[in-house]
Amino acid sequence: MPDVVQRGLEDVVALESKICFIDGHKGRLIYRGYDIRELAEHSTFEETAYLLWYGRLPTGPQLADLTHRLAALRTLPPRVVELVDRMPADSNPMDVLRTAVSALAIFEPGELRPGPSSIGGAQRLTAVLPTILGQFHRRRAGLPPLEPKPSWSHAAYLLYALLDREGSALETRAIDVALILHADHELNASTFAARVTASTLSDLYSAVTSAVGTLKGPLHGGANEQVMRLLAEIDSVDRVETVIKSKLAAHERIMGFGHRVYKVEDPRATILREWSRKIGEAKHDLHYFELLRKVEEIVHREKGLYPNVDFYSGSIYALLGIPHDLFTPIFASSRIAGWTAHVLEEYDDLRLIRPTARYVGSTDLSYVDVGRRP
Ligand code: SDX
Repeated sequence: MPDVVQRGLEDVVALESKICFIDGHKGRLIYRGYDIRELAEHSTFEETAYLLWYGRLPTGPQLADLTHRLAALRTLPPRVVELVDRMPADSNPMDVLRTAVSALAIFEPGELRPGPSSIGGAQRLTAVLPTILGQFHRRRAGLPPLEPKPSWSHAAYLLYALLDREGSALETRAIDVALILHADHELNASTFAARVTASTLSDLYSAVTSAVGTLKGPLHGGANEQVMRLLAEIDSVDRVETVIKSKLAAHERIMGFGHRVYKVEDPRATILREWSRKIGEAKHDLHYFELLRKVEEIVHREKGLYPNVDFYSGSIYALLGIPHDLFTPIFASSRIAGWTAHVLEEYDDLRLIRPTARYVGSTDLSYVDVGRRP
């Protein structure tokens, strides 16, 4: 019985998986054998989700069938629409997402009621997350009700759900690439939470509810929104060095930097940096991109840290006009594919996940009646 405490389970190999491989020293990320750079270049979110769920790239008919099925699964049960509509406009959208996913398990129509976890449940939850976000955001923004848009891709539908307009080809591709890049990342905290839940033989909806609650944290998926707050605080390129150095001197974390696994640049940041520039040029607005590049230069010089997936993503979403508090929910609208793929893998090779702790508290104390305690 090893007695070494690995805080945060750092470097602990908890299980074997065929879904995702990360080489933190070479900055490589692979989904089911395919390099993320190839998938980001040539694939779509639907194709990547199929790969994560089934372990192989789909044929043309299989991809068409999945795309059609996801579009057909976008509608929320009326009772969940009512629930979302009753949520205060200033609710955190990640709380809305977590609550609605949890409620879905109760109000799903008969044919969708979550039975034993299946790829059908994975597809349902993947399809419906943008609808939950759109239902909440459009109501608080006074936008017209959502339409299912059955012929639109996941990326196009997500953009429409949040912006009430059809994205341009460039904007839609930017979102599709972001969805590909965020789809999975081995045993990150939210995926681990989903697998722990599934390892007790709890259901898929409970596992995803666990994952959404975990992704919300600023040390995990919540960092993309925090990066935008940092940029707003800095505001101009000539203030970057002063602000960053004072934060580092105060031992503050610079959001969007560092990673538990990558010791070099996160390959997703490399791709998202290019998209941040592309969208900035298309919008004739490089303000965010220039600030981000300067922050990156100073943080790397002062701390030797590299940007992670959350550093550039927010600038892309902001340039499209998406409100900042929807950035982490966009992350969830992609990672749902990875979460559910890992839950299915856990069910296939189930082992209750239950580490141990080294007890360092008191021992051998004697009970004293409450009336005689000092
Ligand atoms: C995601 O796990 C995944 O795969 C996650 C993810 C995914 O796809 O699922 O990749 C998505 O969550 C990306 C990370 C988003 N979070 C942030 O950007 C928040 C800021 N980053 C840090 O909080 C931190 O880098 C973590 C949480 C990401 C990783 O922290 P670790 O591995 O626990 O590292 P650590 O806290 O032990 O730090 C090691 C050293 C420390 O220096 P010393 O105190 O020893 O001198 O690096 C420093 C830290 O202070 N450091 C930072 C820093 N990150 C680490 N210093 C300033 N700013 C930072 N961001």
